[in-house]
Amino acid sequence: MIQKTDFIEKINSYLNSCIPQSDIIQDGLAQSMRYSLLAGGKRIRPLLVLEFAAALGENPEKVLPVACAVEMIHTYSLIHDDLPCMDNDVLRRGKPTNHVVYGECTATLAGDALQPLAFETILSSELSAERAVRCARILAECIGMKGMCLGQYLDMLGEGKELTAEELDLINNNKTGALLAASCGIGTAAAGGSERQINAAMNFGYKIGLAFQIRDDILDVISTSEELGKNVGSDAEEKKNTYMVLLGREKCENEIKRLTEEAISVLEEEFRGFDISAPVELARSMENRKN
Ligand code: IPE
Ligand code: IPE
Ligand code: MG
Ligand code: MG
Ligand code: MG
Repeated sequence: MIQKTDFIEKINSYLNSCIPQSDIIQDGLAQSMRYSLLAGGKRIRPLLVLEFAAALGENPEKVLPVACAVEMIHTYSLIHDDLPCMDNDVLRRGKPTNHVVYGECTATLAGDALQPLAFETILSSELSAERAVRCARILAECIGMKGMCLGQYLDMLGEGKELTAEELDLINNNKTGALLAASCGIGTAAAGGSERQINAAMNFGYKIGLAFQIRDDILDVISTSEELGKNVGSDAEEKKNTYMVLLGREKCENEIKRLTEEAISVLEEEFRGFDISAPVELARSMENRKN
Protein backbone atom coordinates (compact mmCIF):
# COMPACT_ATOMS: atom_id res chain seq x y z
CA MET A 1 0.00 0.00 0.00
CA ILE A 2 1.38 3.41 -1.02
CA GLN A 3 2.14 5.94 1.68
CA LYS A 4 0.10 9.08 1.09
CA THR A 5 2.57 11.20 3.07
CA ASP A 6 5.45 10.08 0.83
CA PHE A 7 3.52 11.19 -2.22
CA ILE A 8 2.65 14.55 -0.65
CA GLU A 9 6.32 15.15 0.15
CA LYS A 10 7.29 14.35 -3.42
CA ILE A 11 4.56 16.64 -4.77
CA ASN A 12 5.60 19.56 -2.55
CA SER A 13 9.24 19.11 -3.33
CA TYR A 14 8.64 18.94 -7.10
CA LEU A 15 6.39 22.03 -7.00
CA ASN A 16 9.08 23.83 -5.02
CA SER A 17 11.58 23.10 -7.79
CA CYS A 18 9.28 24.44 -10.53
CA ILE A 19 9.57 28.11 -9.52
CA PRO A 20 12.83 29.09 -7.76
CA GLN A 21 12.84 31.67 -4.99
CA SER A 22 14.01 35.14 -5.98
CA ASP A 23 14.14 38.72 -4.69
CA ILE A 24 14.55 40.32 -8.11
CA ILE A 25 11.71 42.69 -8.93
CA GLN A 26 11.25 41.26 -12.43
CA ASP A 27 10.51 37.90 -10.80
CA GLY A 28 7.48 39.30 -8.94
CA LEU A 29 5.01 37.42 -11.13
CA ALA A 30 6.84 34.14 -10.57
CA GLN A 31 6.96 34.82 -6.82
CA SER A 32 3.21 35.37 -6.65
CA MET A 33 2.71 32.04 -8.46
CA ARG A 34 5.10 30.40 -6.03
CA TYR A 35 3.28 31.96 -3.07
CA SER A 36 -0.01 30.25 -3.87
CA LEU A 37 1.48 27.03 -5.21
CA LEU A 38 3.45 26.42 -2.02
CA ALA A 39 0.87 27.77 0.44
CA GLY A 40 -0.13 24.24 1.39
CA GLY A 41 -3.33 22.56 0.39
CA LYS A 42 -4.38 18.96 0.65
CA ARG A 43 -2.92 18.02 -2.77
CA ILE A 44 -5.87 15.73 -3.44
CA ARG A 45 -5.75 16.09 -7.22
CA PRO A 46 -2.06 15.23 -7.72
CA LEU A 47 -2.48 12.42 -5.18
CA LEU A 48 -5.24 10.96 -7.32
CA VAL A 49 -3.02 11.19 -10.40
CA LEU A 50 -0.21 9.31 -8.64
CA GLU A 51 -2.50 6.74 -7.06
CA PHE A 52 -4.19 5.83 -10.34
CA ALA A 53 -0.86 5.61 -12.14
CA ALA A 54 0.54 3.41 -9.35
CA ALA A 55 -2.57 1.19 -9.39
CA LEU A 56 -1.79 0.39 -13.02
CA GLY A 57 1.84 -0.37 -12.19
CA GLU A 58 3.49 2.85 -13.44
CA ASN A 59 6.45 4.35 -11.59
CA PRO A 60 5.04 7.36 -9.66
CA GLU A 61 8.32 9.30 -10.13
CA LYS A 62 7.74 9.34 -13.85
CA VAL A 63 4.21 10.68 -13.41
CA LEU A 64 5.10 13.27 -10.75
CA PRO A 65 5.41 16.24 -13.17
CA VAL A 66 2.00 15.47 -14.64
CA ALA A 67 0.48 15.22 -11.16
CA CYS A 68 1.98 18.59 -10.25
CA ALA A 69 0.66 20.11 -13.47
CA VAL A 70 -2.86 19.33 -12.27
CA GLU A 71 -2.08 21.06 -8.97
CA MET A 72 -0.91 24.13 -10.92
CA ILE A 73 -4.27 24.30 -12.65
CA HIS A 74 -6.07 23.84 -9.33
CA THR A 75 -4.00 26.62 -7.75
CA TYR A 76 -4.75 28.95 -10.66
CA SER A 77 -8.47 28.22 -10.22
CA LEU A 78 -8.27 29.13 -6.53
CA ILE A 79 -6.39 32.39 -7.17
CA HIS A 80 -9.03 33.47 -9.68
CA ASP A 81 -11.91 32.11 -7.58
CA ASP A 82 -10.83 34.38 -4.70
CA LEU A 83 -10.57 37.58 -6.77
CA PRO A 84 -12.87 40.47 -5.84
CA CYS A 85 -14.79 40.00 -9.11
CA MET A 86 -15.41 36.33 -8.25
CA ASP A 87 -15.89 35.18 -4.63
CA ASN A 88 -14.03 38.12 -3.10
CA ASP A 89 -12.19 36.15 -0.42
CA VAL A 90 -9.19 37.28 1.62
CA LEU A 91 -8.04 34.00 3.20
CA ARG A 92 -6.86 30.83 1.42
CA ARG A 93 -4.85 27.89 2.71
CA GLY A 94 -4.49 29.79 5.98
CA LYS A 95 -2.83 32.79 4.33
CA PRO A 96 -3.96 36.07 2.77
CA THR A 97 -5.20 35.44 -0.78
CA ASN A 98 -2.90 36.14 -3.70
CA HIS A 99 -4.55 39.45 -4.67
CA VAL A 100 -4.38 40.70 -1.06
CA VAL A 101 -0.61 40.23 -1.10
CA TYR A 102 0.31 41.00 -4.72
CA GLY A 103 -2.63 43.06 -6.02
CA GLU A 104 -5.38 42.12 -8.42
CA CYS A 105 -3.43 42.52 -11.65
CA THR A 106 -0.52 40.33 -10.55
CA ALA A 107 -2.89 37.75 -9.05
CA THR A 108 -4.82 37.55 -12.32
CA LEU A 109 -1.58 37.13 -14.25
CA ALA A 110 -0.29 34.55 -11.77
CA GLY A 111 -3.40 32.47 -12.47
CA ASP A 112 -2.98 32.99 -16.19
CA ALA A 113 0.69 32.00 -16.16
CA LEU A 114 0.10 28.84 -14.09
CA GLN A 115 -1.94 27.43 -16.97
CA PRO A 116 0.78 27.33 -19.66
CA LEU A 117 3.24 26.22 -16.97
CA ALA A 118 1.03 23.19 -16.36
CA PHE A 119 0.98 22.23 -20.04
CA GLU A 120 4.69 22.91 -20.41
CA THR A 121 5.30 20.61 -17.44
CA ILE A 122 3.26 17.79 -18.96
CA LEU A 123 4.81 18.13 -22.38
CA SER A 124 8.34 18.23 -20.95
CA SER A 125 7.85 15.14 -18.78
CA GLU A 126 9.46 11.78 -19.41
CA LEU A 127 6.21 10.20 -20.51
CA SER A 128 6.03 8.97 -24.08
CA ALA A 129 4.71 11.61 -26.49
CA GLU A 130 1.52 9.60 -26.91
CA ARG A 131 0.80 9.44 -23.17
CA ALA A 132 1.76 13.07 -22.59
CA VAL A 133 -0.60 14.25 -25.33
CA ARG A 134 -3.40 12.09 -23.94
CA CYS A 135 -2.89 13.67 -20.48
CA ALA A 136 -2.70 17.22 -21.86
CA ARG A 137 -5.85 16.67 -23.86
CA ILE A 138 -7.85 15.35 -20.89
CA LEU A 139 -6.73 18.33 -18.85
CA ALA A 140 -7.53 20.86 -21.58
CA GLU A 141 -10.97 19.34 -22.15
CA CYS A 142 -11.85 19.37 -18.46
CA ILE A 143 -10.82 22.88 -17.47
CA GLY A 144 -12.24 25.09 -20.18
CA MET A 145 -15.57 26.08 -21.66
CA LYS A 146 -16.96 22.56 -21.26
CA GLY A 147 -15.53 22.05 -17.78
CA MET A 148 -14.19 24.07 -14.90
CA CYS A 149 -14.55 27.54 -16.44
CA LEU A 150 -18.11 26.73 -17.47
CA GLY A 151 -18.85 25.64 -13.91
CA GLN A 152 -17.41 28.84 -12.49
CA TYR A 153 -19.46 30.86 -14.99
CA LEU A 154 -22.69 29.03 -14.11
CA ASP A 155 -21.88 29.37 -10.40
CA MET A 156 -21.67 33.12 -10.86
CA LEU A 157 -24.87 33.27 -12.96
CA GLY A 158 -26.71 31.32 -10.28
CA GLU A 159 -25.94 33.77 -7.47
CA GLY A 160 -29.12 34.94 -5.79
CA LYS A 161 -31.34 32.62 -7.86
CA GLU A 162 -33.28 29.55 -6.86
CA LEU A 163 -31.89 26.53 -8.68
CA THR A 164 -33.07 22.95 -9.09
CA ALA A 165 -30.95 19.98 -7.99
CA GLU A 166 -30.14 19.29 -11.67
CA GLU A 167 -28.92 22.84 -12.20
CA LEU A 168 -26.80 22.70 -9.08
CA ASP A 169 -25.30 19.36 -10.13
CA LEU A 170 -24.43 20.84 -13.53
CA ILE A 171 -22.58 23.71 -11.86
CA ASN A 172 -20.66 21.47 -9.49
CA ASN A 173 -19.89 18.66 -11.93
CA ASN A 174 -18.15 21.31 -13.98
CA LYS A 175 -16.59 23.63 -11.44
CA THR A 176 -15.24 20.89 -9.14
CA GLY A 177 -16.01 17.46 -10.63
CA ALA A 178 -14.24 18.06 -13.93
CA LEU A 179 -10.77 18.64 -12.44
CA LEU A 180 -11.10 15.70 -10.05
CA ALA A 181 -12.25 13.54 -12.97
CA ALA A 182 -9.31 14.82 -15.02
CA SER A 183 -6.92 13.88 -12.20
CA CYS A 184 -8.12 10.27 -12.17
CA GLY A 185 -8.20 10.06 -15.96
CA ILE A 186 -4.73 11.57 -16.29
CA GLY A 187 -3.21 9.15 -13.78
CA THR A 188 -4.72 6.28 -15.76
CA ALA A 189 -3.64 7.70 -19.13
CA ALA A 190 -0.10 8.38 -17.86
CA ALA A 191 0.16 4.67 -17.01
CA GLY A 192 -1.06 3.62 -20.45
CA GLY A 193 -4.57 2.64 -19.32
CA SER A 194 -7.24 1.77 -21.88
CA GLU A 195 -10.01 4.19 -22.92
CA ARG A 196 -12.41 2.10 -20.90
CA GLN A 197 -10.23 2.41 -17.80
CA ILE A 198 -9.78 6.15 -18.35
CA ASN A 199 -13.55 6.58 -18.61
CA ALA A 200 -14.19 4.54 -15.46
CA ALA A 201 -11.52 6.50 -13.56
CA MET A 202 -13.11 9.76 -14.70
CA ASN A 203 -16.57 8.54 -13.76
CA PHE A 204 -15.20 7.81 -10.27
CA GLY A 205 -13.65 11.31 -10.25
CA TYR A 206 -16.92 13.02 -11.15
CA LYS A 207 -18.76 11.22 -8.37
CA ILE A 208 -16.20 11.92 -5.67
CA GLY A 209 -15.98 15.46 -7.07
CA LEU A 210 -19.65 16.07 -6.40
CA ALA A 211 -19.31 14.57 -2.93
CA PHE A 212 -16.26 16.78 -2.40
CA GLN A 213 -18.18 19.95 -3.28
CA ILE A 214 -21.11 18.97 -1.05
CA ARG A 215 -18.65 18.59 1.82
CA ASP A 216 -17.08 21.96 0.86
CA ASP A 217 -20.54 23.57 1.08
CA ILE A 218 -21.16 21.98 4.50
CA LEU A 219 -17.79 23.16 5.82
CA ASP A 220 -18.49 26.73 4.67
CA VAL A 221 -21.39 26.69 7.14
CA ILE A 222 -20.19 24.56 10.06
CA SER A 223 -16.42 25.01 10.21
CA THR A 224 -14.16 27.81 11.45
CA SER A 225 -11.68 29.91 9.48
CA GLU A 226 -8.85 28.52 11.64
CA GLU A 227 -9.68 24.92 10.80
CA LEU A 228 -10.59 25.54 7.16
CA GLY A 229 -7.85 28.01 6.26
CA LYS A 230 -10.41 30.06 4.35
CA ASN A 231 -13.23 32.34 5.45
CA VAL A 232 -16.43 30.60 6.44
CA GLY A 233 -19.84 31.99 5.53
CA SER A 234 -18.45 33.10 2.18
CA ASP A 235 -21.22 31.32 0.24
CA ALA A 236 -24.05 33.06 2.08
CA GLU A 237 -22.30 36.40 1.66
CA GLU A 238 -22.11 35.91 -2.11
CA LYS A 239 -25.68 34.46 -2.22
CA LYS A 240 -24.33 31.24 -3.68
CA ASN A 241 -26.48 28.30 -4.49
CA THR A 242 -25.10 25.46 -2.45
CA TYR A 243 -26.19 21.97 -1.45
CA MET A 244 -26.62 23.21 2.10
CA VAL A 245 -29.20 25.74 0.89
CA LEU A 246 -30.94 23.21 -1.36
CA LEU A 247 -30.82 20.03 0.73
CA GLY A 248 -29.88 20.88 4.30
CA ARG A 249 -27.18 19.16 6.35
CA GLU A 250 -28.64 15.67 6.74
CA LYS A 251 -29.46 15.11 3.09
CA CYS A 252 -26.04 16.49 2.18
CA GLU A 253 -24.36 13.88 4.40
CA ASN A 254 -26.47 11.12 2.82
CA GLU A 255 -25.61 12.29 -0.68
CA ILE A 256 -21.91 12.25 0.13
CA LYS A 257 -22.16 8.64 1.33
CA ARG A 258 -24.24 7.56 -1.66
CA LEU A 259 -21.93 9.20 -4.23
CA THR A 260 -18.79 7.81 -2.60
CA GLU A 261 -20.13 4.26 -2.56
CA GLU A 262 -21.28 4.60 -6.17
CA ALA A 263 -17.86 5.89 -7.16
CA ILE A 264 -16.13 2.95 -5.50
CA SER A 265 -18.42 0.40 -7.20
CA VAL A 266 -17.57 1.87 -10.61
CA LEU A 267 -13.87 1.42 -9.90
CA GLU A 268 -14.19 -2.05 -8.47
CA GLU A 269 -15.98 -3.19 -11.59
CA GLU A 270 -13.57 -1.76 -14.17
CA PHE A 271 -10.29 -2.21 -12.29
CA ARG A 272 -10.69 -5.86 -11.32
CA GLY A 273 -7.30 -7.38 -10.59
CA PHE A 274 -5.65 -4.02 -9.85
CA ASP A 275 -4.88 -2.67 -6.40
CA ILE A 276 -7.19 0.32 -6.15
CA SER A 277 -7.07 0.50 -2.36
CA ALA A 278 -5.31 3.88 -2.37
CA PRO A 279 -7.92 5.85 -4.37
CA VAL A 280 -10.70 4.02 -2.54
CA GLU A 281 -9.21 4.97 0.81
CA LEU A 282 -8.71 8.57 -0.33
CA ALA A 283 -12.36 8.78 -1.42
CA ARG A 284 -13.51 7.46 1.96
CA SER A 285 -11.23 9.86 3.85
CA MET A 286 -12.74 12.76 1.92
CA GLU A 287 -16.25 11.93 3.16
CA ASN A 288 -15.67 13.35 6.62
CA ARG A 289 -12.82 15.72 5.97
CA LYS A 290 -12.54 18.71 8.28
CA ASN A 291 -10.77 21.03 5.89
C1 IPE B 1 -11.09 23.92 -2.84
O1 IPE B 1 -10.37 22.76 -3.13
C2 IPE B 1 -11.92 24.32 -4.01
C3 IPE B 1 -13.00 23.39 -4.33
C4 IPE B 1 -13.07 22.80 -5.47
C5 IPE B 1 -14.07 23.16 -3.39
P1 IPE B 1 -9.53 22.01 -2.01
O2 IPE B 1 -10.38 21.85 -0.79
O3 IPE B 1 -8.95 20.78 -2.59
O4 IPE B 1 -8.40 23.06 -1.67
P2 IPE B 1 -6.90 22.85 -1.21
O5 IPE B 1 -6.12 22.51 -2.43
O6 IPE B 1 -6.84 21.78 -0.17
O7 IPE B 1 -6.50 24.21 -0.67
C1 IPE C 1 -14.35 26.69 -6.20
O1 IPE C 1 -15.53 26.47 -5.52
C2 IPE C 1 -14.23 25.88 -7.44
C3 IPE C 1 -13.05 26.28 -8.21
C4 IPE C 1 -12.04 26.94 -7.73
C5 IPE C 1 -13.00 25.92 -9.60
P1 IPE C 1 -15.71 27.33 -4.18
O2 IPE C 1 -15.76 28.79 -4.48
O3 IPE C 1 -16.80 26.74 -3.38
O4 IPE C 1 -14.32 27.00 -3.46
P2 IPE C 1 -13.82 27.65 -2.11
O5 IPE C 1 -14.86 27.36 -1.06
O6 IPE C 1 -13.65 29.12 -2.37
O7 IPE C 1 -12.53 26.94 -1.84
MG1 MG D 1 -16.36 29.97 -6.11
MG1 MG E 1 -14.68 30.38 -3.51
MG1 MG F 1 -16.72 26.67 -1.21
